[in-house]
Amino acid sequence: MAAELKNDLLLRALMREPVPRTPMWIMRQAGRYLPEYRETRAQAGDFMSLCRNAELACEVTLQPLRRYKLDAAILFSDILTVPDAMGLGLYFETGEGPKFERPLQNRVAIERLPEIDVHDSLGYVFNAVRTIRAALDGEVPLIGFAGSPWTVGTYMVEGGSSREFPLIRDLAREAPQLLDSLMAKVARVTTNYLNAQIEAGAQAVQIFDTWGSALERDDYRRFSLAPMQQIVDGLTREKDGRRIPVILFTKGAGPMLEDMVETGCDALGVDWTTSLADARQYTKDKVALQGNLDPATLREDADTIRRGVADTLASYGEGPGHVFNLGHGITPDIDPDNVSVLVDAVHEMSPQYHRD
Ligand code: CP3
Repeated sequence: MAAELKNDLLLRALMREPVPRTPMWIMRQAGRYLPEYRETRAQAGDFMSLCRNAELACEVTLQPLRRYKLDAAILFSDILTVPDAMGLGLYFETGEGPKFERPLQNRVAIERLPEIDVHDSLGYVFNAVRTIRAALDGEVPLIGFAGSPWTVGTYMVEGGSSREFPLIRDLAREAPQLLDSLMAKVARVTTNYLNAQIEAGAQAVQIFDTWGSALERDDYRRFSLAPMQQIVDGLTREKDGRRIPVILFTKGAGPMLEDMVETGCDALGVDWTTSLADARQYTKDKVALQGNLDPATLREDADTIRRGVADTLASYGEGPGHVFNLGHGITPDIDPDNVSVLVDAVHEMSPQYHRD
């Protein structure tokens, strides 16, 4: 398994080491915008069956890499596999997104939530990681991931997707210590989950904190950042003589990026509402930055996409430590040909920012 990595640009850029061009991957790069994904998902029956089948999860992980010159693969799975394994019963209602059969509706449910052994109930994820690593054969690194305890917690407490998060925000106000204990428990399970992904072959990990910016800054520090810090502190940071970089992505983090640096992560994801130039000021080149083209740009024509790439690269500016990505996941309505325009533009335009 210790095979050489043929393209390690992503890992080098995440460590802020010099690279000849800016490496890139795309959040949600395997997904419904690709007709071959829709076909494989239909073959699997439904989304969770696709996640549980290592061969098919591997197939959809590789699909975007066959089309585009991407510098990383990302495990095909979901952030909600963890609460599902903790007994909440995940299911998907067409058009309504994820739901739980048994959301955490009261204090007793939260206190009784079992602290599971990830190897018992999430073995299918680690099987998928091993299968994907073998199939990649060292072409590009494999990124593992999990949701942040806060973001996963919003689904656990609300019972599904939410705009305003009324229930979990009530909990933050009325029973903050109970919420602390829930976050700490999910953080412990998530740490074990990510370490098991690393053990199985994940070469970098990203924590998705999609909803952290729904919290005001002090609450963000307590309920979102502190549990992510707990995870970072517990992660395996080196394997087979190589650093395992950790990327934190709080969508809409803005100035909170400054606080996030202090966790000791290697890189921060940035969404399109903060320019990379500003993010670089907030983080003072202490970590790498990943992002941040507005995913809506991919609905525009080729010239507009190319201009978006040029502006994003220029905003980061010269030097190492940039991983090109969208500012959030690619959406199902995107024309796959527009992704080729994007990827080609990053390959063509980024070398000028790396002439030492
Ligand atoms: O990036 C990748 O290619 C890896 C796969 C991945 C998925 N979900 C696959 C998926 C990743 C990294 C995620 C993370 C995830 N899941 C997040 C955080 C990421 C972010 O964008 O901020 C969140 C909030 C979830 C929860 C979730 N799972 C939602 C809201 C949905 C969409 C429901 C819908 O009907 O649109 C899912 C399902 C899901 N996860 C899909 C995919 C490809 C779509 C399922 C399908 O219909 O095929």
